[in-house]
Amino acid sequence: MYRLMLVAGARPNFVKIAPVLNALERQPNLFECKLALTGQHYDHCLSGSFLRDLVMRDPDIQLNVGSGTHAQQTAWIMARLEGYLFRWQPDLVIVPGDTNSTLAAALTAVKMNIAVAHLESGLRSFDRTMPEELNRILTDHISSLHFVTEESGKNNLLNEGISASSIRFVGNTMIDSLLRLKNKGNLDAIKKRLGINQKSYAVATIHRLGNAEDHNVLTGLMAALSDIAVNMPVIFPVHPRTRAQLDKLGIYAKLSPKLLITDPLGYVDFIALMAGAKLVLTDSGGIQEETAILEVPCLTLRNSTERPCTVECGMNRVIGNGYRRIVEEANHFMAFGAHKTKDPDLWDGHASERVVEGLIEYFKNHHKAA
Ligand code: UD1
Repeated sequence: MYRLMLVAGARPNFVKIAPVLNALERQPNLFECKLALTGQHYDHCLSGSFLRDLVMRDPDIQLNVGSGTHAQQTAWIMARLEGYLFRWQPDLVIVPGDTNSTLAAALTAVKMNIAVAHLESGLRSFDRTMPEELNRILTDHISSLHFVTEESGKNNLLNEGISASSIRFVGNTMIDSLLRLKNKGNLDAIKKRLGINQKSYAVATIHRLGNAEDHNVLTGLMAALSDIAVNMPVIFPVHPRTRAQLDKLGIYAKLSPKLLITDPLGYVDFIALMAGAKLVLTDSGGIQEETAILEVPCLTLRNSTERPCTVECGMNRVIGNGYRRIVEEANHFMAFGAHKTKDPDLWDGHASERVVEGLIEYFKNHHKAA
């Protein structure tokens, strides 16, 4: 029996880890799992309702760290997780994604000689001003097992000298969640609740540090969304970090009434809303991937993406965060749509099963017998 601890802390990590935990728990003779939540996200709309939607069981461990500076958040997770690892002595710790919770958990484990498996390994934006890029690089270099979602991830790891024998191209567990739950929402009811009475609408999200916390950039982004909304309602579920900055800017009165600002939505409602949208504008990584599979055109409001396969498949354009380009590209997409050329390889809803196979093979080669 192998003991695995899965650690997650922020909204996108729950989506990536839920199908893996479910797949592992279908093999109770082989794996004993504990789920630890760091508490990096604690607002109900970012964690509580999200977890419920994902049909993930209750966590075994809650670290309750909450918000802080990057150093504080990372340190608090490490200090609180260490005791649990010490007492339970797992054979391996699984961390998804690129958040502070990811790096903190990986670092704690590896310093205790506990092996780490990184889910969604190898992605690179090549922009080291993003905290996520530092978290990805550091986590990859202390992990023993690298599960990659796309070909670029494998190449990036090899270029950084990571051994090919530790890399497994499994596909995307976030897409496992998407395919399982994408038809569960009631779009008509959601639209009614949000006050959308037109058939065509766009969805926008902004939370990335470089967009949300620079007031000039955020003002330009809001002006662009407001102008797009004049032709087509734009639903804008606002992350708490962005909400705090918008409150400081005090620009609500200048925005089009068809820019519909709401609290973050639950997972099932949000993916139903995206699936019905004519256009999505975002700086999220996960949403670039989800729109590629839902076949909804996506404009990425950043200068780089760590997910190039979403661009290669024809559904995503990386357009930066300047007002003029956003409005032009949105008009272009609304007029001509986007054309999917191919599906990203192995984004087929079975990535979690391949993760489980990879773990079994890893333990066979590196570890004690079950
Ligand atoms: C984090 C991840 C990011 C991921 C995002 C998804 C890092 C470095 N960033 O960004 O990669 O895409 O989650 O949402 O780990 N806050 C609340 N309530 C909450 C959580 C946060 O109000 O439940 C506010 C706090 O003011 C906090 C700020 O949002 O200081 C930023 O939160 P944090 O978790 O540090 O980063 P995110 O922007 O959520």
